[in-house]
Amino acid sequence: MLDADIVAALEEQVCRAAAAIGIDPATVEPAVRRSDFADYQADLAMGLAKRLGKPPRDIAAALIATGELDDLCAEVAVAGPGFLNLTLADGALSERLIAAARDDRLGVPNHDPTHRVVVDYSAPNVAKEMHVGHLRSTVIGDAIVRLLDFLGHEVIPQNHVGDWGTPFGMLIEQLIEDGEQATAERLSVGELGSFYQRANERFTSDPDFAERARRRVVALQAGDEETLRRWQLLVDASERYFSRVYDDLEVRLTPEDLAPESRYNPALPQVVRDLESLGLAVESEGALCVYPEGSTGRDDRPLPLIVRKRDGGYGYATTDLAAVRHRTDDLDADWLIYVVGAPQAQHLAMVFQASREAGWLGDDVRVDHTAFGSVLGDNGKMLKTRSGKPIRLADLLDEAVQRARTLIEEKDPDLPADEREQLARAVGIGAVKYADLSSDRLKDYTFAWDRMLSLQGNTAPYLQYAHTRIRSVLRRAGAEEVLPPADVIHVADPAERALALQLLGFGATLDQAAELLQPHRICTYLFDLASTFTTFYEACPVLKAGSAELVASRLTLCALTGRTLAAGLALLGIRAPARM
Ligand code: ARG
Repeated sequence: MLDADIVAALEEQVCRAAAAIGIDPATVEPAVRRSDFADYQADLAMGLAKRLGKPPRDIAAALIATGELDDLCAEVAVAGPGFLNLTLADGALSERLIAAARDDRLGVPNHDPTHRVVVDYSAPNVAKEMHVGHLRSTVIGDAIVRLLDFLGHEVIPQNHVGDWGTPFGMLIEQLIEDGEQATAERLSVGELGSFYQRANERFTSDPDFAERARRRVVALQAGDEETLRRWQLLVDASERYFSRVYDDLEVRLTPEDLAPESRYNPALPQVVRDLESLGLAVESEGALCVYPEGSTGRDDRPLPLIVRKRDGGYGYATTDLAAVRHRTDDLDADWLIYVVGAPQAQHLAMVFQASREAGWLGDDVRVDHTAFGSVLGDNGKMLKTRSGKPIRLADLLDEAVQRARTLIEEKDPDLPADEREQLARAVGIGAVKYADLSSDRLKDYTFAWDRMLSLQGNTAPYLQYAHTRIRSVLRRAGAEEVLPPADVIHVADPAERALALQLLGFGATLDQAAELLQPHRICTYLFDLASTFTTFYEACPVLKAGSAELVASRLTLCALTGRTLAAGLALLGIRAPARM
C-alpha cells in the first residue's frame, strides 16, 4: 500500500537531498509544512546556514540542484530568506488519493514501532456520583484508546475504579441502615450521590454511627466475610450503573477493563517491604513515606508520598505504585497513559518518580499524565445544577439526547420514530463528546448546550451534517456505498487541489494527535476538511462536471471526504449517520 502521507514522503525526499549535499539526514529537521505560496514549504536551509557557513538561499538552491525532489514535485523554488517552496506534481497527488480511496485504512499506515499501551481512564468511585471530571476522563480516554488502536498499538484499557478506603466503613453502615435490597436498587439506577451524602451526614452528626463506621473499616481490612459481602454489594450495584453510563456514552469500556483499587490489595505489603529494603521508604511521625526527587512543598522541603499510614493502612499512593508495577511487569506495557484531571498532577508525578527510583519504571517505558481542565457552567464556575448540586452524568446525557430529539422533530417532523431515536442519540451524545474533545484538553471549557448542538461552527452536528450531505451526493450518483475510485484524480482547480492536500493530511494529523495525546487535533482537522469540502463543492460541479472522467474524479474526492469524516468521527467515538 502506498502511504498516503504526503508530508512524510516530502520529508524523506528533503532528507535525501540533504544527504546528497553531504549532510547527515539524521541531523536535520526537514520541517515540511503547508504554505500560502505553494503547496508546501521546507524550512531546513535556514537552520543549516550557520553549520555550513553559507547563505541559506545558496543552500536551498543546492538542495534543489540535487534533483531529489523532482519525482514528487512539479516545481521547487527558493523563496524569501531561503525557504524551499514545493509544488506537488498532479500525478503524485492523484496516485496517493487513489491509493487512499482503495484502502480500508484510507492510506494510513500503522505506527512504527507499535507499543503495548496501558490507558488508565474513567475511574469513578463506588457509591459516589460520577462527576463531569469522570466524563472528561472517559471521553478523552476513549478517543485515545480508539486512536492508538487504529494506529496499530496494543491497547490495554484499565478502569482504576475507587472501591477501597476509609469511606467504606460509613457506606457499609448506611447500607445496613437502609437495607441491602433497597440500596442495591438505588445505586444501580444512579442514586449514588444522595446515598453517599446521607452516609456522610450520619457520620458527622451521630457519634454512635461514626464509631460503628470506624469498626467497620477495621473489619473490612481484616477481611471479615459479612463485611466483604456487603462491600461487594455496593461495588456490584455501582458498577452496574457505571456500565449503563458507558453504554449511553457509547464508549468501549467493558467490565473486563475493570482494574479497581482493591485488586491491588494483596500486592501492597510487598510494595512497601521493597521500598523499605531499597532504602526509599523512611518513617515520619509514625507513617512510612517516600520522598521522590523533584517534588518540594512551599518551603522547599521534600514532599512525602505516604505509603503506609500511621494506623498501618495503605492508601491511594501505595495502590498507584502497585498499579505501576503490575502494568510494567505483568501487563508488560512500555507506555502508560493516565487520563486524570490536572489537580492530580503532583500525586502522579510523585508516583512516577518513586517508581523510577524503585526500578519499576525503566527508561524504556514512556509515561504520560494526560491531564485535563475543568468543565465550567455559563457563570464561569464549575458546572453544577441550578440548585448547586453536582450534575449527575446520566441526567446530563439524557438531556443531550432530549435536546437533540427536539431539534430533529422541528427539522424533520415526519421522520419515523425509531430513526429519530437513533439520530437523537448520535447527535446528542456526539455533541457532548465533541464539545469536550475539540478544545485543547488542558484548558477549561464552558458547557453550552446551544453551541455544542449548533449546525454551525466546530461541532459534531456540523460534521455529521457535512457527512450526510456528501452521502446524498453519492446516492444521487447511484453510488450508495463504496464506488471504485476514478483512474485519475484531477486537481487542476485550486479548490480541488486544496481538498486533495487536506485529505492527504489525515495520517499526519492522527500521528500528531497520538504523539501529543491531543484529540482536539483530529477535531480541527475534520472541521477544516468539512470547510475545504464546502468550498470545493461550491466551486466545482460534481454530477454536472462535464466529462465523465471529471465526474468520476470529483465523486472520488467526495467519497474520500465522506469516509475520512466518518473515520475521524469514529476515532472520537462519534457516529456518522447516513442521513439527517
Ligand atoms: N478514582 C480517582 C478519582 O475519582 C481517579 C483515579 C485515577 N487513576 C489513578 N491511577 N490514580 O479521582
